[in-house]
Formats: sequence, structure tokens, C-alpha cells
Amino acid sequence: MVKSDEKLAIDGGKAVRGKPFPPRRLFGDEEKAAAVEVFDEAITTGQAFGYAGPREQAYEKEFAERLGGGFAKGVNSGTSALLAAIAALELEPGSEIVCPPITDPGGVMPIVMMNCIPVPADTNGFSFNVGAEQVAAAVTDRTRAIVVAPIFGEPVDMDPILELAREKGLAVVEDAAQAHGAVYHGRPVGTHGDIAAFSTMFGKHYASGGQGGIFFTQNEDLFWKARRFMDRGKPFRTDEPNNVRLGLNLNSDELSAAIGRVQLKKLPWIIERRQAVAAAVADGIKSLQTVALGKIIPDAQASYWHTRMTLDTDKLTVDKDAFAEAVKAEGIPVGVSYRHIPAEHIWFRSRNTYGSSGYPWTAPYEPPNLPNCEAVLARNFLISIHENWTDKEIADTVAALTKVEKAFLK
Ligand SMILES: Cc1ncc(COP(=O)(O)O)c(C=O)c1O
Repeated sequence: MVKSDEKLAIDGGKAVRGKPFPPRRLFGDEEKAAAVEVFDEAITTGQAFGYAGPREQAYEKEFAERLGGGFAKGVNSGTSALLAAIAALELEPGSEIVCPPITDPGGVMPIVMMNCIPVPADTNGFSFNVGAEQVAAAVTDRTRAIVVAPIFGEPVDMDPILELAREKGLAVVEDAAQAHGAVYHGRPVGTHGDIAAFSTMFGKHYASGGQGGIFFTQNEDLFWKARRFMDRGKPFRTDEPNNVRLGLNLNSDELSAAIGRVQLKKLPWIIERRQAVAAAVADGIKSLQTVALGKIIPDAQASYWHTRMTLDTDKLTVDKDAFAEAVKAEGIPVGVSYRHIPAEHIWFRSRNTYGSSGYPWTAPYEPPNLPNCEAVLARNFLISIHENWTDKEIADTVAALTKVEKAFLK
């Protein structure tokens, strides 16, 4: 038991956790064997491995099957997957796309790359995700699409957003970079909108290498549009004799696919473990008065890329930052702030895009009004859980949160 007079580590007391937390050990012998097999084959046959070959096709089929069927294509990053998603919509330059307020730059830059204007919607008021009401408030007669991002693998409340999109004739893209394995209303995140983009870089739930991503849709027409964009406008599924549209080379390759296939088999276990760890932390702190695991929308399961911890700061003598810093000082892997607001970044504010044109923006920067976003950032911090946490890591986290709450309770 923690004594209420126990000195916090941040004030020079003994930390709850002296030893570092265990590493994820995401890659092991199976990934190594799969990669070696690709090289062995190349050496035996004398043919270099390439891209879009049998391994990649098998990987994409397995990925799509996990989502209940559809069309998947491995690419070289999550940013590329989102870029291909926006490109597939073939929007006119200057079209507005409603986007998340809190996301990775790779979740917004593709919009501008495709000459569209990102319009951040506010959060739902309790999480880092947008809410339907806030998305509706950001829609104008120039809006053509909505990008949502289930931050930390917490599902976005999609049904009202999809209804709004249907009413207004807007496309919906799920930027599921952080949301492998999350479920909304009984179906995987990534299967609710028109297109989904996933990241498979090494820090995500599963990885196809150091960098990677995967594009997914159930719409075959959108798939081939994206596919052409991903490979320099090649005339896939057309009768045209040469390259049909502007594009890039966003291709993945056989080596990444070999790793991705092994990792995909581990994904259900990874998700299950993360959900179990998050539930155990939540259970361990259920008697605390000011700190809890962040609330998830009803009829949804988060896949916990990180766990969002919510504070009732009214009952504390310190603000969120001081509380989170104190938990971190106890040796817990805490992210004090998840202030990833693309609209605050220099490139966005200064319109540093194409030469000095500021294109596609035509109006000077005005800071978006995101009151919910600010309120949520002031009450939430994150703990980086992962699948290899044991009961010891869970117990230490609970002990640290308990100790810090006792010290700062009003
Ligand atoms: C929400 C979101 N979108 C897009 C990206 C970009 O993915 P990548 O880093 O694979 O390019 C990330 C990466 O963290 C992300 O979290």
C-alpha cells in the first residue's frame, strides 16, 4: 500500500518503478526467417525480389480478409496510404476536406498535397476524436470529403458522420493509422467509410518493416483509381496503352510483405493483450477519484495504440501537466501531452506549400476555433502500454497513479 505521506519521485522520493519497462520485442525469429527466405529465393534464382509479387498479393488478401473482404494494397507508409485515398477521390483543386484537429502531420499533409484545403473539426469534448456535431459545423458548400482518425485506436462515432456525408454527398476516409483491430458497431474500424488508410511502421500495432502502410477499400472503382496513383498512373484495369493519370511511386515490396504477413498473424494477440492490459489498469484504479481510463463511445472496442488517461482536474491541487509529470517521474511511460495539432504547425500557419504561392489556400491563416480540443488536452495524458506488459507493469502503473492522486487530491 502507498502511504499518503510518501514523497513523490518528482520531489526526490523513491520512484515506484526503478527498472525500465520491458521492450515490445515486435520482431523476432519468425520475421527474420520470412525475410531470409526472400533473400534465399533471390540468391537461388538469381532474380532480385521486387514488388507486387506473390508475397505482397498474399499479404494484401490476408489483410482484406481480416476486414471482412475488400481490396487492400501495401504502400510505403501510412502517409502514402492516405495520399492515395485522397487521390482516388479525384477532387477538384480547392475542395475542402474536413479533417481531425489532433493527428499526425501525415494525417493532414496528403490533403494539401492533393491541392485540397484541410478544415479541422473540433473534438467530441471528451476524447481526441472528432464528433459528428463538430464535423457538421466544419462542413461548407465547398466540402467534398471528411477524413476521420480514431486516435489511439479509439473508434470515432461513425454512423452520424456517415449519415451527414450521405446527405451532403461527401466521401468519408478513415485514417486508421492508429486503429488496427478497433471495432465500431460490430465491424472493424476501416470498413465504415469509403476508404481506409493504415500505417504499418514499426511503432504501430503491427509492422511491415521500419516504415509501411496499407490502403483498403470495399469499392473496386476507388481501389483501381488509388492503385494507378500509387504506381505512376499505370493503366491498370483500363485498355489504355500508357500511363493515364498523374501519380507517384508509393509501392511497398516483397520483403515488407513477407514481414507483414508474419506480423498480421500476431495482430489478434497484440490487440487482445493491449485490451487486457488497459482493462487491468482501469480496474486497478477504479476506486481513485480523479484519474480513469478515457471513456470510449458505446458499442465500440478500442485497440489502445496508447491508453488515454482522463483527469478530473477540479478535484486536484495541480493541473494535468504537473500530475502527468509526477506519474512519469515514478518511472511510468507517460506522454504528458498529445498536442499534435497540425493547424498549429509552421507549414500550416505560413502556408509553406508550393513556392511562395500558399496554394491551395487563398485566404490568410486564421487559427481554427477548437475549444473542445483545448479542454480535452487540458484533462488527458497518455500511458504507452503494450502487449508485453506483465502483471508487474500493470501493478506499478496502478501504484504510481494511486500515489500521485493521494499527493495531489484537494
Ligand atoms: C493518425 C495518423 N495518420 C497518419 C500517420 C502517418 O503514418 P506514417 O507514419 O506511417 O506515414 C500517422 C502516424 O503516426 C498517424 O498517427
